[in-house]
Amino acid sequence: MNIPDELFEALNKQVTAEHQAALIYTQLSYDLDRLSFPGMSSWMAVQASEERVHASKIADHIIARGGKVELGTVELPFLAVKTPLDAFNYALEHEQQVSEMIRNLTRVADEVKDLDSRALVNWFLSEQIEEEDTVSEIIDQVKLVGEDGSGLLRIDTALGARGTSS
Ligand code: FEO
Repeated sequence: MNIPDELFEALNKQVTAEHQAALIYTQLSYDLDRLSFPGMSSWMAVQASEERVHASKIADHIIARGGKVELGTVELPFLAVKTPLDAFNYALEHEQQVSEMIRNLTRVADEVKDLDSRALVNWFLSEQIEEEDTVSEIIDQVKLVGEDGSGLLRIDTALGARGTSS
């Protein structure tokens, strides 16, 4: 394997973290389905799939460089979702934690002067800005309509129209 040990450990942890994110989004998808917001539920399910793609991107990098991916235990926090706003707040909170992990990963890659992971790490840095921005925008819209049922249903319809992306 040609990945420095410290970076290998951080990359491996990130694979598990992306799977954890997928499970959190899956839970949020179930919660929103329970609250009768099928569009929002579907948005969360698509997000869960994206997280698995993120995990694969890092796993592929590790394997391509001769490493062995070792998945760790995934622990899920209890998510007390009573409203769509709760669900998206949890999503944002989690994305912020992931962003911090990616920044740490970047610091490790810099410290060990690993050039080969640079493109991967840069992709994730940009992706996290986009992920946080997207969820923040939804939170703003949900806050704007407040308790207005027809407003929430319009957002639900718009989010349900989301297709799969990277
Ligand atoms: Fe893999 Fe939502 O960040």
